Amino acid sequence: MILAIETSCDDTCAAILDPAGRCAFSNVVHTQKEHERYGGVVPEVASRAHLERLDGVVQRALAEAGVTLKEVTHVAVTVCPGLIGALLVGLSAAKGLAYAHRLPLIPVNHLEGHVAAAYLTDPLLEPPFVALVASGGHTAIYSVTQSGMNLLGQTLDDAAGEALDKGARMLGLGFPGGPALSKTAQGGDPSRYAFPVALKEKNNLDFSFSGLKTSLLYRLKALDEKDVRKELPHLAASYEAAVVDALSIKLLRTVELYDAPATVVAGGVAANTALRRVLIEECERLGVKLVIPSPELCTDNAAMIGAAAAIAPIVSYPDYLGLNARSV
Ligand code: KG4
Ligand code: ZN
Repeated sequence: MILAIETSCDDTCAAILDPAGRCAFSNVVHTQKEHERYGGVVPEVASRAHLERLDGVVQRALAEAGVTLKEVTHVAVTVCPGLIGALLVGLSAAKGLAYAHRLPLIPVNHLEGHVAAAYLTDPLLEPPFVALVASGGHTAIYSVTQSGMNLLGQTLDDAAGEALDKGARMLGLGFPGGPALSKTAQGGDPSRYAFPVALKEKNNLDFSFSGLKTSLLYRLKALDEKDVRKELPHLAASYEAAVVDALSIKLLRTVELYDAPATVVAGGVAANTALRRVLIEECERLGVKLVIPSPELCTDNAAMIGAAAAIAPIVSYPDYLGLNARSV
């Protein structure tokens, strides 16, 4: 059994998986509410909240899986990228547990974790495929082969989730913005406002979302308060559509360019209903296999870290004691 721990941002997570990392017996996520009042994640608050919660979350993951620590054979943990203090809490706990039980440790890259969520969704999935990771901190496209992940394109400024969060904030919606924006967009007309989709040239697989944000700012300045309220669903729907367009255009272009037999979409933004709808339709049209994890496996969780650990290099007991976390 693998015990996986994830604390790279504001979710305190632990999970128990089978040794092949294709089945999660438990997947506990404690989302920190402490950040809501600040409208964004406060790194120091996140570290302290992980410290308070992690023991309980690990205990719950074991209990829900009906497993004792004695049955755990490997400890997996996110070591990069993420908030350094937050990562250190998870890594220290993982080291402590592994050392105390003389177990090996598997350090995992958070982005590889997001992609590996696809193996839990479709246990028969094997590389090669192309993968889009769209989260609050990253937006990137990878070619995934048996030997690992190769970066093909990425955002030059904001991440897709960050663009949604900032847009939602400008529209006076809650945090995190992605789900709030989506909810407000229901019933709105996505073609009412033409928000820009950047870097549309062929063969360009990078993203840029900073212009989109500025465009919303100017659009809002041009409307009076009453109109903003009336237009809110349309503004939200049009803004969301621009993010969905950018992500789907680039991913489908990559699929064609690399003649990929399958594609994976992961990260918090992959929980977005509009994005899922477009990609399901388009991949069906192209005859390409599409794997999008369930929304709970798209947002941060430890099951995805366990799934990535099953195919990552193992560090034997006690060689991992000097291992460090990295923010990038
Ligand atoms: O992967 P994730 O949980 O954490 C990071 O690694 O960043 O992604 C969080 C991001 C946030 O920006 C959040 O607004 C966005 O994913 N998100 C969504 C939805 N659920 C979460 N965006 C659009 N629609 C959603 N349903
Ligand atoms: Zn993430």
